[in-house]
Amino acid sequence: MTPSQDEAVADILVRWQPYGRAGLLPCLIDVQNHLGWLPPDVCAQVGEVLGVPLADVYGVATFYSRLYTQPVGRRIVRVCDDVACLANGSPALLEACRTALGLAPGETSPDGLVTLEVHPCLGHCEHAPCLMVNDQVFGRLDAAAAERLARAVRAGEAPPK
Ligand code: FES
Repeated sequence: MTPSQDEAVADILVRWQPYGRAGLLPCLIDVQNHLGWLPPDVCAQVGEVLGVPLADVYGVATFYSRLYTQPVGRRIVRVCDDVACLANGSPALLEACRTALGLAPGETSPDGLVTLEVHPCLGHCEHAPCLMVNDQVFGRLDAAAAERLARAVRAGEAPPK
């Protein structure tokens, strides 16, 4: 971690310390928002400061699909494979993203820019099939649109609307 990241994590820990166990999830979210993932030494610090056993810290950190205990790309492409999206063509979106990004699901590009994931319901079933780029949802996509989107993400551009 850089000194400024150290400082940011220290501030987060101070903020959530009074909440103890109740502050665990929001504390982990705040830490991840600053670091991009939850490194082991930081998970240990969180447990110590909040008075929560490390096993419980990992119990929470590994339960939620959007918390990461391994480094991930700065941009995460999440292709939904739940029922509504599956029924409306999400396998074609995934294939288009695989091709455009040159990544299999779960992989991160060597430059650390992009991670590709297959994800359960993104909560936008009415717009199926969907994918997300970080927190932005894109719905009613076909394979060509998904490929354009993925290529823009890979090139470091803003995703086309
Ligand atoms: S099933 Fe894909 S967003 Fe709900």
